[in-house]
Amino acid sequence: MTDKTRPVLITGASGALGRVLTRALGANGWTLRLTDIAPFPDDLPKGAVFTKADLNDGVTILRLAEGCQAILHFGGISTEHPFEVVLGPNIRGLYHIYEAARREKARVLFASSNHAIGFHERPGEGEEKLDADCAFRPDTFYGLSKAYGELMGRMYWDKHGVENLNLRIGSAFPEPAERRMLSTWLSYDDLARAAEKFLTAPRIGHAVVWGASNNSATYWDGDHRDRIGWEPQDSAELFRAAVGEKVSRNPVAERYQGGGYTAMDYTRDKPSPKDHFSLD
Ligand SMILES: NC(=O)c1ccc[n+]([C@@H]2O[C@H](COP(=O)([O-])OP(=O)(O)OC[C@H]3O[C@@H](n4cnc5c(N)ncnc54)[C@H](O)[C@@H]3O)[C@@H](O)[C@H]2O)c1
Repeated sequence: MTDKTRPVLITGASGALGRVLTRALGANGWTLRLTDIAPFPDDLPKGAVFTKADLNDGVTILRLAEGCQAILHFGGISTEHPFEVVLGPNIRGLYHIYEAARREKARVLFASSNHAIGFHERPGEGEEKLDADCAFRPDTFYGLSKAYGELMGRMYWDKHGVENLNLRIGSAFPEPAERRMLSTWLSYDDLARAAEKFLTAPRIGHAVVWGASNNSATYWDGDHRDRIGWEPQDSAELFRAAVGEKVSRNPVAERYQGGGYTAMDYTRDKPSPKDHFSLD
């Protein structure tokens, strides 16, 4: 029986997805402890407490996690930035989260990203889709921090038994905004359902799950979602007509799964060859 009175810590609570989770889990009776470096903009759910904190501040993070059963780690730099900007919140901050989880015997839901694997090519019609065990192919410093986060989860499970689920989120927005998102979109409701399943699953170990709705144009197939019993219910197909042919027209962005992030600061003359084993 799940104990909803033991607190669940949500980092990045003031961000777009943190607010979605706070609203959904608060409405379902979970006891929430919220934190972010920015003020929480909404009314607090009943019983929830918000504390402003920087993920770089390890002592405060340890204190915030005291007595928690789980940490939903959605805080940090959420788009591409220079390495030095990403480093503190996404690398050091992540270490603080995992140390706190280890001490509290709490499980961690890590908001990972498709940008950890962004340089895999998009599958063509009938081509094999990507399994969650695929190699990391980060497309940015941001994506690299997500790969690091997943690996930290791997180590904390192997070494300390800290359970963690790495949700490799595609594009979590109210609606898909371009053609790529017909493949990568994650609805807010499917995200909230995944978080609830994560909290109630009997046993997780170290798991990687594609964070996308039930999109027929998906790039991805095969992950550990059975461990939490999550089945996304929404689909980006409903938006196909509205999205139409909205594409970037950048050959790099259109070739790889990470889209526009792969094209940022790109200095090769052209996309790498299809055969990854040849050397140009
Ligand atoms: N929205 C998406 O499509 C998507 C896709 C893949 C992964 N993700 C991941 O999901 C998480 C949430 O994404 P989001 O879209 O809500 O982003 P967001 O930017 O709206 O939220 C991130 C929150 O982290 C907070 N934060 C930043 N630096 C901090 C620090 N030093 N200390 C404490 N808090 C800090 C910000 O104030 C912000 O409220 C992020 O980790 C992001 O990388 C999101």
